[in-house]
Amino acid sequence: MSTTPRSQESGLGGVAWVVLVAAFGGFLFGFDTAVINGAVGPIQDQFSLSDLAIGFTVSSALLGCMVGAWAGGSLSDRIGRQRAMMVAAALFFISAIGSGLAFGAADLVLWRVLGGIGVGMASVIAPSYIAEVAPTHLRGRLGSTWQLAIVVGIFMAAASNAFIANLAGGAAEELWFGLEAWRWMFLLEAGPALLYALLASSIPESPRYLVSRGRDKQAAKVLQEIVGIQGEAAIAQKIKDVRETINMEARQRFRDLIVGGRLTPIVWVGLGLAVFQQFVGINVIFYYSNTLWQAVGIAEDQAFLVQIITTSVNIVATVIGIIIVDRVGRRIPLAVGSAGMAAGLGMMAVAFSQAIITVGADGEELVSLPGAWGMIALVSANVFVLFFGATWGPFMWVLLGEMFPNRVRAVALGVTASANWAANFLISMLFPEMAAFSLVFAYGFYAASALLSMFFVLKWVPETKGRELEDMSDAAYEKTPRVAKTR
Ligand code: GLC
Repeated sequence: MSTTPRSQESGLGGVAWVVLVAAFGGFLFGFDTAVINGAVGPIQDQFSLSDLAIGFTVSSALLGCMVGAWAGGSLSDRIGRQRAMMVAAALFFISAIGSGLAFGAADLVLWRVLGGIGVGMASVIAPSYIAEVAPTHLRGRLGSTWQLAIVVGIFMAAASNAFIANLAGGAAEELWFGLEAWRWMFLLEAGPALLYALLASSIPESPRYLVSRGRDKQAAKVLQEIVGIQGEAAIAQKIKDVRETINMEARQRFRDLIVGGRLTPIVWVGLGLAVFQQFVGINVIFYYSNTLWQAVGIAEDQAFLVQIITTSVNIVATVIGIIIVDRVGRRIPLAVGSAGMAAGLGMMAVAFSQAIITVGADGEELVSLPGAWGMIALVSANVFVLFFGATWGPFMWVLLGEMFPNRVRAVALGVTASANWAANFLISMLFPEMAAFSLVFAYGFYAASALLSMFFVLKWVPETKGRELEDMSDAAYEKTPRVAKTR
């Protein structure tokens, strides 16, 4: 909570580079979680995995994410943000090499979990680092670069997978040194992981960490050069403000979320947002769509192309979301997003209900969508991604960062972010099993979740646009849960 007048804080200046480096963790977050998409099919075949086993192999990384998100905050308080980022980079590197050279499903799961811990760590360290070094009046926009970095990472994973598969003539084919193409998809991540470590070593520690260690002189330097605060008095005031919030946050415990024996209503709202964001099945598109599109008769190289289109739509949608978040607000766009997602997902369910199943010579079931239904399914999937990317994708993270009262912000964020990873794990693990049972059922379930999420938003989610963080008190929510307090 800064009392520094806005006029004393500079524009982008030195902060842009520092924020970009921190957001590079988001790129690896997106890349690492989505790279598996191109490798699912060959891994299942090569290691002879059941649907449940491939589901677990794909989603195991998300278990690591939960652990990393939980541990990342306290690790970065202990060793500093910068060194914590380097630990995450090392985990990305080890995971890339290990996954690429995996002997079987068991060690592949281990390597993926290690990488997941890196993703989970980055998912709590980078956004808080960005918030700590960003000038107050630029915090929203700079914070949004985080989700943009994630979706660019997802796009790059799709692009590099497509490139590698194309080079080898298929994801299961050998490429260089007798290693199959799918292994190179993982190995390639070692490059950006190394770059992240190098870049992270070039940025300064955050002023908040420095102050917490009593290194006020260094903190003053960063506040002046990066945050852009001018004048000794203003810097001293800022250091005092930072010290106050540190003291306040240090006292936060999980039990602070419980009032009168119950979780406070706003924490329930946060949990609802976190869980619904995953229950609409977004990551089924980003982790599994390759096998999905091949299952309905689209050739492998075209399935990769579709993935590029979908991830590009996600990037454009995120930019739209960043533009509307501070103009239109959060609540109404979220509700519109839910409706759009429900329509897209519902259409996908209808399209898959038209599937024709034939049994091939080898006894394997072949599914295909007749006539225009293949195209309808594709368009519907992209409509879904467009509505998600412009609303629920970025807004869930924005809301989790701003909607809780200062008194519990840090701990509430940890709990709700972990719930988001847990829900992601559940949906991603169950998808192959659900799809084998019925694609209509799977997409019908996601569509129903999207529809429910609309009622949830309209009934429970408060409008936070234009509200000061200091105004997000429990009392304000409890008395008027739906009405924003305008200033
Ligand atoms: C959000 C979700 C994440 C998903 C991404 C897709 O960041 O939290 O799970 O992969 O959006 O754009």
